[in-house]
Amino acid sequence: MRNLKISAILMLLLIAETVQSQNTGEGGIVSADNAKIEALIKNMTVDEKAGQLTLFMSGWDVTGPTLSTNYQKLIKEGKVGGLFNAYTVDYVREFQRMAVEESRLKIPMIFGYDVIHGHRTIFPIPLGQSCSWNLAAIEQSERIAAQEATAEGLNWTFSPMVDVARDPRWGRVAEGSGEDTWLGSKIAAARVRGFQGTDLKSNNTMMACAKHFAAYGAAQGGRDYHTVDVSELSLYEWYLPPYKACLDAGAGSIMTSFNEIAGVPSTANKWLMTDLLRNDWGFNGFVVTDYTSINEMVNHGNAENNKDAARLAINAGVDMDMMGSTYLDYLPELIKEKKVSMDAVDNAVRWVLKAKMKLGLFDDPYRYCNKSRQENEVMTPDQLAFARKLVAESCVLLKNPGQILPIPETVKTIAIIGPLGDSKKDMLGNWSAAGKWEQCVTLLEGVKSRAGSRVELLYEKGCNTNDGDKRGFEAALKLAQKADFIILALGENGWMSGEAASRSTIDLPGVQNDLAEAMAKTGKPVAVVLFNGRPLTISRLSSLNVAILETWFGGTQAGNGIADLLFGDKNPSGKLTMTFPRNEGQIPIFYNAKNTGRPYNPADSGAKYVSRYLDCSNDPLYPFGYGLSYTTFTYANLETRVDGDKINVTVQVSNTGNRDGEEVVQLYIRDKVGSVTRPVKELKGFQKVNIKKGETKSIAFSLTTADLAFYHPDLKKYWEPGEFTAFAGTNSAETISATFKVN
Ligand code: NOJ
Repeated sequence: MRNLKISAILMLLLIAETVQSQNTGEGGIVSADNAKIEALIKNMTVDEKAGQLTLFMSGWDVTGPTLSTNYQKLIKEGKVGGLFNAYTVDYVREFQRMAVEESRLKIPMIFGYDVIHGHRTIFPIPLGQSCSWNLAAIEQSERIAAQEATAEGLNWTFSPMVDVARDPRWGRVAEGSGEDTWLGSKIAAARVRGFQGTDLKSNNTMMACAKHFAAYGAAQGGRDYHTVDVSELSLYEWYLPPYKACLDAGAGSIMTSFNEIAGVPSTANKWLMTDLLRNDWGFNGFVVTDYTSINEMVNHGNAENNKDAARLAINAGVDMDMMGSTYLDYLPELIKEKKVSMDAVDNAVRWVLKAKMKLGLFDDPYRYCNKSRQENEVMTPDQLAFARKLVAESCVLLKNPGQILPIPETVKTIAIIGPLGDSKKDMLGNWSAAGKWEQCVTLLEGVKSRAGSRVELLYEKGCNTNDGDKRGFEAALKLAQKADFIILALGENGWMSGEAASRSTIDLPGVQNDLAEAMAKTGKPVAVVLFNGRPLTISRLSSLNVAILETWFGGTQAGNGIADLLFGDKNPSGKLTMTFPRNEGQIPIFYNAKNTGRPYNPADSGAKYVSRYLDCSNDPLYPFGYGLSYTTFTYANLETRVDGDKINVTVQVSNTGNRDGEEVVQLYIRDKVGSVTRPVKELKGFQKVNIKKGETKSIAFSLTTADLAFYHPDLKKYWEPGEFTAFAGTNSAETISATFKVN
């Protein structure tokens, strides 16, 4: 009897294990699902297959050129696989109804949207979030974004954007995580985990889409959509890892980029989409194009017409056409003409259907259409409180001479001056999904609610963001005279970064520098609060005796989160993830550059034949990893210990100021001699730690030799024995160092 019981238990365990391994094998797809998919494919007409590979936009948000299609009729004919820019339960439910009740095969649609930094509750722009160096918080922001988006009918986000970028003229740096591949990869994985959770079938998780594959961030001259031309080694070493990190974290889809790679647009790049993505990386999700990027191959000049472009894309391994309608229009003919095989189309359809299966749409197509969730799970007090916290963590204190900040308790009258001081519309930044600008807290509102009646608050705009009109200066100066503290809100408008928002000069636009100079001249304490979507060349502003707090675009809770820092309720801890150049001529500028054969040595500043500018220092204005606190940290006793393949690094960090604070302790490595030259520094670790005033903490990092590996000309990644330098510090430029050897 006892034995019988034991074998029954063992049997149950075995079944549970098998079910689990079936579930985890291919993102939750079990053999019954596969059988269902195969049966469907068998039963589909070529038009229906092309339909599954077609993604259209509903008229709600316009995120690209519009094409006129009667997509509703097409949905009923089973010719649309998914819809984007459609959200809210009733709206989505009606489209899904058309698909699953009116089309012949009743295949549910997938609903996508650019949920880039929140859905309704908008968080700081991704570049800002990355400056928090808080992976758990970034993951949580996507968890909340997914909760809100799925409560409004969505199940697929075109995020994360993980393009490494070293050119701040490119407006899309706002959507990414900055210039560093290692940090960018960690953040990429955290975002995927946040969106997808542990169960894609749950009604509050959504499928992530890593984008834009590949190397979209390397657009020449920082001009959006421009050509990319990077070496194979650079591609592997610097650009590809964050996409791979997304896939390793389970991202269910990936988006092709607009640019070409080695002369072939990504969307027709078989090497990229099949050899690398499927064969080398084993990707088991689906590939969607970027917006009309199949059609754009005609402009690129590698396809004769849309039909030819469709042939190239499907044969390269691209599964779904976003907005271009080329698969729908031409795949049937192309198959007839034997220019595309039925197998290629079936493969693509299989990936798309699997994605829908993973999301549980075949079990319940209305899984994400729950009215009560829409009413109760969006913009909750907890979500807003978290957003406020993330704003404060994302801000970076760039300058604080004479401890201008935090605003002293003694201040009685504050003048908020500047075009961004009370601009609700600009707080969301770009790609603000379903966020409503009317619900944003401006700087003025945030300061007002924090300061209460204790402080008199005055406000003048002074000038516009982006024109030459100085007529408001006088009123602003008059107001400033009445105050004993000035908060100057400067920067870019929200629309000045993001897609199709490249700038050739990236200083403060308009007459804002003049306004700042006029304010500094008053002799009053001035704290500049910057709003912008990219690093700016603020040399002029920086030369003034003012405090500067970089706040990016903070989203719904911008004003509150900034006020928390201005009044010292919170201590700034953000660190730049992208270098601030002195001027545009220094671009591209990034911390992990190569040494060159003729490195400039500041101790020998008269040397001529060295790698330098005649008219500008090589150093940036603010380096990668930089950010001040209201307290100070010092670093000492950096020690390295090599033990077999382990490298242990410890450093002591002391809080030498007079308040508690958080420090992002950064660890960099330099490989002194490599068969492929190595950068002067490479980020290999960081820890964000709370250190009380007067306290010293010992921070330990454990690396392995695998962390020293780099790509070689044969595109294999391995490390080379020799001498290395470890650097620890408060940013990439201010470090202490120690050497170690690995054999
Ligand atoms: C084009 C953008 O490049 C991409 O990032 C976005 O997801 C799509 N439009 C859809 O809006």
